[in-house]
Amino acid sequence: MENNRKILSLKDIVVKFRVRSKMLTSIRNISFDIYDGETVAIVGESGSGKSVLTKTLTNMLESNGYIANGSIMYYPNEDSKNDPKTAFKDEINLIKFHKGALTSEARKSIKSYNNLRIKEAKTKIGILTKQIEMNIDAINSQIEIDNLTREIENAYQEMASFNRLSRRTRKKMRPIMKEIATPEGVNFLEKTMIENALDYLKNEEYLTEFEILLQEILHKVNDKIAIDSQEVNLLLEIWTFQNQSALKNKTQANKNLKKLRGGTIATIFQDPMTSLNPLLSVGYQITEVLRAHQKMSFIEAKQEAIELMKKVGIPNAEKRFKDIPGKYSGGMRQRIVIAVALACKPKILICDEPTTALDVTIQAQILDLIKQLKKEYNLTVIFITHDLGVVANIADRVAVVYAGQIIEYGTTNDIFFDARHPYTWALLSSLPQLGNKGEDLYSISGTPPSLFNEIKGDPFAPRNDFAMAIDYELEPPMFEVSPSHGAKTWLLDPRSPKIEKPKQLSRLREAVSEAKVGE
Ligand SMILES: Nc1ncnc2c1ncn2[C@@H]1O[C@H](COP(=O)(O)OP(=O)(O)O)[C@@H](O)[C@H]1O
Ligand SMILES: [Mg+2]
Repeated sequence: MENNRKILSLKDIVVKFRVRSKMLTSIRNISFDIYDGETVAIVGESGSGKSVLTKTLTNMLESNGYIANGSIMYYPNEDSKNDPKTAFKDEINLIKFHKGALTSEARKSIKSYNNLRIKEAKTKIGILTKQIEMNIDAINSQIEIDNLTREIENAYQEMASFNRLSRRTRKKMRPIMKEIATPEGVNFLEKTMIENALDYLKNEEYLTEFEILLQEILHKVNDKIAIDSQEVNLLLEIWTFQNQSALKNKTQANKNLKKLRGGTIATIFQDPMTSLNPLLSVGYQITEVLRAHQKMSFIEAKQEAIELMKKVGIPNAEKRFKDIPGKYSGGMRQRIVIAVALACKPKILICDEPTTALDVTIQAQILDLIKQLKKEYNLTVIFITHDLGVVANIADRVAVVYAGQIIEYGTTNDIFFDARHPYTWALLSSLPQLGNKGEDLYSISGTPPSLFNEIKGDPFAPRNDFAMAIDYELEPPMFEVSPSHGAKTWLLDPRSPKIEKPKQLSRLREAVSEAKVGE
């Protein structure tokens, strides 16, 4: 890779949706880094969580969704730092905005859902403990109890990360926080003050994000370990947030989200009409964005909009400026959506199946356009698709998702020629370019697991021709194949039997070199 600087870093992301009285988990612990200037493809079957993941990046989840855990750090590059128009010049955790923007109703339902989870788990543990006492299925019962204990911890942690500090805690912590807020204050705290605070925190049933951080810092002061000023700043930031009214936090979060979507991350969706207003001329829609984000006059904006329309390949741009989206073909509309996205001057362009609704020749043109614009504007592109065939043509790296997890990642070459996960094999095997005349195309049997339940073991096991007993019991870790390549399958454990990947995959090299894939 030419450039090894991270621009986005996702860590332990969990996304859930409230569906009536149940909870569905769409993203299960995704951790992934995206580098400045690269094109990453995210590939998986329909329903695997690709769109939810992209919406998570810009906090566009529907109101019944929430990010239950994790962080998404955005790191601005030198260009962005020096550009007066960029909104974010320091690294930020995007998930904070989301939490701030959450309604109090959502907060309440997260709390009650987790309380219910804890209660159910505790009841089950009670029953299992009795079984162990009576010596019934003791080993399995103990494993189950360990799982349930972990679930209780997760539930507490999830609640704590959404909870506001209690009034009592805020009152108790005010004096020490006042000291910490002064320059160097943290290094001159009185011993009794530290002890009192630590005593108080020790007696809390579970700790919020703020309390955990405060506790860590105070322990460090006690042990005379140097304290990072960033840690202290983060603590002060959370403290301010906790002491501001919910309304003020929400307004602030929404303002930041607007900045994020305006100047940092832009998204292109599958259906152009979801992002365009059918009643307004396309030219007007582009100029509006330019005027909002770049503070241009109408005349300037109109000129720039026509430039952008030319750039995305609209013939007779001056004439077509006044047309409403309905007068454009599907492919042309998608070009307009791309122009609107570019008008925001994004650093990161997310394309969520931008060509799925288009016919094949138009698809190839739009892909070429995205490639060309990426180069010209130095964009980082996150390209979402269910079609691995498209990937060979556009991506530097690929992440394969299944049931809300990344199950394999690597360079495009790693994935096409050295895939290690049976699900990736299956996706590759169903590429039409691998089919021989007269033979049926390979397709994956079965369906993905229900997202309403906890998944035991490897979620792909029931559909996996190579599944072993352990796949039904334990979730595999991500095994590193090389520094650029990893796969989450027990087949990579040294104790597993050697398995040959499906024969038809050897034809891939030929298919790609003949440029049959990705055309
Ligand atoms: N607002 C929502 N409420 C409930 N479930 C949702 C919502 N949005 C997405 N999901 C569920 O999350 C899962 C992943 O969806 P999605 O990311 O759209 O899949 P895809 O990979 O096809 O883009 C699906 O099971 C879907 O039903
Ligand atoms: Mg989708």
